[in-house]
Amino acid sequence: MCEPKLARTTNENEMTHTRRAFIQSGLAMSALSFFPKAGSAATPEFQVMTAQSGAVQLAPPDYPKTEIWGYDGKFPGPVIRVRQGARLQRRLVNKLPQATSLHWHGVRISNAMDGVAGLTQDAIPTGETFDYDFAVPDAGTFWFHAHNRSVEQVARGLYGALIVEEPIAPDVDRDEVLILDDWLLNPETAQLDPDFEAVHDRSHAGRRGNFVATNGSFNSTLNVSQGERMRLRLINAANARIFVLGLSGLKGWVMAFDGMPLVTPSEISEPIILGPGQRADLFVDVIADEGESAHLVRLEDGQGFAQTEFRVTGTLASAVRDVPQVLPPNPNMDVPGLEQARRIRLNMEGGAMGNLDAAILEGERKTFRQLVDANQFWAFNGTVGMTEKPLASLSRGETARVEIYNDTSFPHAMHLHGMHFREVLEGGEVGPLRDTLLMFGGETREIAFVADNPGKWLFHCHMLSHAASGMMTWLEVA
Ligand code: C2O
Ligand code: CU
Repeated sequence: MCEPKLARTTNENEMTHTRRAFIQSGLAMSALSFFPKAGSAATPEFQVMTAQSGAVQLAPPDYPKTEIWGYDGKFPGPVIRVRQGARLQRRLVNKLPQATSLHWHGVRISNAMDGVAGLTQDAIPTGETFDYDFAVPDAGTFWFHAHNRSVEQVARGLYGALIVEEPIAPDVDRDEVLILDDWLLNPETAQLDPDFEAVHDRSHAGRRGNFVATNGSFNSTLNVSQGERMRLRLINAANARIFVLGLSGLKGWVMAFDGMPLVTPSEISEPIILGPGQRADLFVDVIADEGESAHLVRLEDGQGFAQTEFRVTGTLASAVRDVPQVLPPNPNMDVPGLEQARRIRLNMEGGAMGNLDAAILEGERKTFRQLVDANQFWAFNGTVGMTEKPLASLSRGETARVEIYNDTSFPHAMHLHGMHFREVLEGGEVGPLRDTLLMFGGETREIAFVADNPGKWLFHCHMLSHAASGMMTWLEVA
C-alpha cells in the first residue's frame, strides 16, 4: 500500500508520529500563486526562466532538504498567469547537467513551440537557451513541463502551472492552483530515487512515488471561510499515479476538464479521477462549519487521505450561493463530421502480464524477451517507440477518429499534443473536449478531433516510464 508517509524504520514512535504528521497535521500556507513581473512582453528581452537544480524541504523538517530540478530552481515552479489570447514569451535557460526542452501541455500551440525534443525542436544543450513565443487561444488550466528525458526531468520537479484567464473573471472568491504529485524518495535521506529506468516501473504501472504532495507540501493547508466559493485548479503532474479524489465539507461542481469548459457544470457526487497530465477545474463552496476542516480527499485502497486541508477560520456573510454559471466556451470546441471522418486504429500492447510476443524495435523484429533485454516493453500497432512515418498524415481541417484498444493489463493516459479531442461514446454522443484520455486495461475507446493545427504532434502515454519504453507515436497535419 502506498501511503503518503516517509517513515524511518528505526523508531516506532517516530514512524507513527511521522505518518500522523503526514496525513493530519497542517501548516498554514501562503497563497501559492505569484504573478510574474509584467512589462517585458513588447521588448525582445524575454522574461527568463532558468532550469536548474535547487533544494526544497519536501519531507518533514527533521529530514534533509530534497535536491530537485526546477524552473528558477524552485519547487513548486512558477505559476504563469496570462490573459486569454495573449502572447506568452519565455526564454528558457538550461543550467541542468543534461539537455532539456519545455512543453506547454494542453495549449493549442503553434508546432515549433510545442517543445518536444527530437520532434519539434532539438533538445537545448546545457548552457544554451531557447525562446518560447506563442499565443494562448484558450482560457483554462494548463501546465508546462520538461519534454526531454521526461521520465527523469518531470520526476525531478521540472514543471509548473500555466493559468490562462478568462476575459471576464468568473464569480469566485478565490482561485487556487493545486498541483498533485508523488515523489519517490529514499526514506532515510529524503532524496529522489535516481533509478529513472527501473525495469519494474517501465514494465508495470510506471514510476509511482511513496510521498504524495500538493504543491510540494505533504500537509497542504489553506485557511478558508464558510460560504466561500473557490476555484480549485487540479493538475496531476505525477509520472504515473492516478489520483482518485473526493470532497468533504465542500459542495462542488466540475467546471472544466483539461482546460476546456464543460457545457453543463456537473455537481460532484462521485470521485474525480485524474490520470497523469489531466486537469480539472472545480468550483467548491465551503460548507464545513467554522472551527472544522474541509478536505480534498485522496481515495486509495478504500481509505481517504487529506490531499489538501481547508481550515474554516471564519464565515462569509453571503452564505448560500446559486449553482455556478458555466465558464465561457473556448473557440473551436466542436468536432463535426464524425460520419465521414478518417478512421485510425491504435492497438496498445505489451507490459507485464500482457500479450506481446514480438514487436519492431528500431526497424527490427524482436521477441518480447529481446525487448525486455533492451528495457523496452510496449508497442503501438506492433512497433516500439517512434516510427519514421507518422501513425497518420492528416489534411488540415479533416476530422479524424482514433479507435484505441488497450490490450494490456495496465491503465494508460493517452495524450495528444496540439489538438484536443472528444471521446465518441456509445450511440454517437461525444464526451467533453480533452487532451488526455485515461484508459484501463482491456478497454476499447474512440476519440475524434479536427486536425486543424498543422505540424508534427506527439501522441503518447503520459505514464512517463511507459512513454520511455515504447508508448509513443505521432501524427502529422499538413
Ligand atoms: Cu504533458 Cu508529451 O506531454
Ligand atoms: Cu502507459
